[in-house]
Amino acid sequence: DASKFIAIDGPAGSGKSSVSKEIARREGYGYLDTGAAYRALAWHVLDRGDDTADADAVRAAASAFPFSQGLDPDDRIVRVGDVDVTAAIREPRVSNAVSGVARVPEIRVQVNEMFRRIVAESEYPAVIVEGRDITTVVAPDAPVRILLTAAPEVRAARRAGELAGENAAVVAEALHKRDASDSTVVDFLNAAEGVDVVDSTELDFAQTIDAVLTVIAQRR
Ligand code: C5P
Repeated sequence: DASKFIAIDGPAGSGKSSVSKEIARREGYGYLDTGAAYRALAWHVLDRGDDTADADAVRAAASAFPFSQGLDPDDRIVRVGDVDVTAAIREPRVSNAVSGVARVPEIRVQVNEMFRRIVAESEYPAVIVEGRDITTVVAPDAPVRILLTAAPEVRAARRAGELAGENAAVVAEALHKRDASDSTVVDFLNAAEGVDVVDSTELDFAQTIDAVLTVIAQRR
């Protein structure tokens, strides 16, 4: 039952996390960042001393993967078992390893089941679920399905701004590589039929929020 899903997909740096979080806060919705689960699994693989390019190692790590994430937009601690990995999963070493995890088909099936269960069991009236394949694979029947996009230069500049101290060209290159690898797995650059596109290239944060809220009001 996808009726509680508000599905938002988009590439890295499209602004989908900050937009999703702010809308969840304002509207009293839950917020599930599915990228955090892929990142946490990548962290778990690295923590076991393995490499995410090794699909067998990824499968082994996933067979015991006690992931949890709060749905409260203001309390989104990510844990693997008892370990708080909220900050660690944003480190470049994890960002650079995460596509290896996302590329294993059985892993996607496993985490998608987990996402559907988390939403079904939540007490929120609706949950904004953000990722790459939420509108197409995880919840294709969701009443609200949005693809949030932005031009690549704009996305790289936003991401470089978030990672203070990192070289902008290095950030742009890493982001481009990750998008290229990710888009061989799921198409998050083109909207599937019935998905509403919000292009934030020329919009500031407040305008992007308004555009997304307009779609939600129309569809929900
Ligand atoms: O959204 P974020 O950039 O944190 O996602 C991290 C990674 O998780 C992506 O680069 C992608 O490999 C993977 N991912 C995915 N499907 C999703 C969400 C994230 O494959 N629904």
